Amino acid sequence: MKVRLAGEIGATWRRELAAALPEAEWSDDDCDAEVAVVANPPPGALAAMPRLRFVQSLWAGVDRLLADPTLPPGVPVARMVDPVMSLAMAESALWAVLALHRGFFDYQRRQREGVWRQHAQRRADEVNVLILGQGEMGRAVAARLAPLGYRVEGWHRGVDLAPLLAGAEIVINLLPLTPATRGLLDARCFAGLPRGAALVNFGRGAHVVDADLLAALDSGRLRHAVLDVYATEPLPAGHPFWAHPRVTVLPHAAALTDARSASAVAAANLRAWRDGRTPAHGVDRHRGY
Ligand code: GLV
Repeated sequence: MKVRLAGEIGATWRRELAAALPEAEWSDDDCDAEVAVVANPPPGALAAMPRLRFVQSLWAGVDRLLADPTLPPGVPVARMVDPVMSLAMAESALWAVLALHRGFFDYQRRQREGVWRQHAQRRADEVNVLILGQGEMGRAVAARLAPLGYRVEGWHRGVDLAPLLAGAEIVINLLPLTPATRGLLDARCFAGLPRGAALVNFGRGAHVVDADLLAALDSGRLRHAVLDVYATEPLPAGHPFWAHPRVTVLPHAAALTDARSASAVAAANLRAWRDGRTPAHGVDRHRGY
């Protein structure tokens, strides 16, 4: 099996992948590669591989890969689904929900202002959390929030979103980015939330209409946003999110892919492909994830 690594795959990844898949021949040549292992590769990275038969992504989200017009049609693509990554995402979501529910971001702001003031304390079972996306990550987050007492709802395609938004105080976005979900978090969505709701965006930057989010924060419609992903990454210097008092900026770090565990997942999938079995977590290109 001739495997080519495409995109930004650093030395740690190369080492872990080689350890997880010692039988692979690592090819430096586009012409003879049968399998490509990719990490959010730039457009065109797979364009010149005439023998390509299978693509394994090291990223969970494959929106950029699928948007590449040079991705050879008909070649199966599998995305990364790693329980270690889902757990990391759940930890970040727990932190964001606890901080939003208990007002810790407000206390942080007050510290900077030198203000000593307590606010009302609510119970977790009084807080409605809506998770957008019921995939691996969405389910992992729900499984860890529910035991703390939060009232957790989930939304997926095909269900009416409006009544769920109307009851949600904290919205966590974990949707894949597809033509159907791009720009979903816009003024209309924010207007459908109760006043003072909060947003946690751990999906993709392009789910959010930035200007609508800023307007919703400035009007008090939303009280806080925890953002990990942005339309342009790194978040450009001077972007209003950086200094906004009601925005917490993370550098696309809510769930980093763990090279060790993800390499084992990728190796199992490459072996499945080599042995003629169906690799896990194949992407439906039409659906977009
Ligand atoms: C990161 O955002 C990923 O999709 O793996």
